Amino acid sequence: MRKPLIIANWKMNHTVNEALKFLTVLQKQPNLPSDIDMVICPPFTCLQSLSILLAEEKKVSLGAQNVHWEKAGAYTGEVSPLFLKELGCDYVIVGHSERRQLFFETNEMISKKVKAVLENEMIPIFCIGETKQERDQGKTQMVIQTQLRSALDFLPHNFFSHLVIAYEPVWAIGTGQNATPEVAEEVHHYIREWVSKKVGGEIAGQIRIVYGGSVKPDNCAELLKKPDIDGVLVGGASVSVDSFLQIVNYRR
Ligand code: PGA
Repeated sequence: MRKPLIIANWKMNHTVNEALKFLTVLQKQPNLPSDIDMVICPPFTCLQSLSILLAEEKKVSLGAQNVHWEKAGAYTGEVSPLFLKELGCDYVIVGHSERRQLFFETNEMISKKVKAVLENEMIPIFCIGETKQERDQGKTQMVIQTQLRSALDFLPHNFFSHLVIAYEPVWAIGTGQNATPEVAEEVHHYIREWVSKKVGGEIAGQIRIVYGGSVKPDNCAELLKKPDIDGVLVGGASVSVDSFLQIVNYRR
């Protein structure tokens, strides 16, 4: 079965000192559940310090929030997948809606990033989701399908089992208004069917599809009960270690 995956996306929050305090508290917890996978995606500036701390005792994996698709070159301000791998990142968030909307990332750029992350032996957390307007116009499945196709259509089939897909409806991100478990499940199921048609039922059954958008301690357990919701990608509620721990302990 698919192991639940709880991902913290800190976005542009936490200095190195704050990040180290967070992780120290987390690592000291005596009873962290062992039947889930945890990932923290801090700002780039925190990766090295957290990676050193994790080398002592690795209860959580490290992820980056973005990446460039080239390994090196004249790309001022960009970060290569090689650098992330060297720092011990196992995951990279790709195509977050804030990158798409505020920094004008296109499906084409995102497609190159997904491939680059996989080629460098890390796991992309590939984000897709519709806007409120698209949902209201009944275009959710069409938007999801376009985003899936543009990034995954030409991906070698052997890469698929190393992929995490995050369904993050744009209208739910940072708004306090999460998708209901039923609404999210419908889209997750659609995504899994799409993957199944593309690469077969076995890989579709292995891929983890996580939900993101106003996940909080009081709604994560219900979301995670749904058969196709394999984890959560948490923004605002992952910045404080207390609320992140409540989410991680959602079964207790
Ligand atoms: P949120 O963000 O939990 O603050 O809604 C989720 C995300 O953007 O990944």
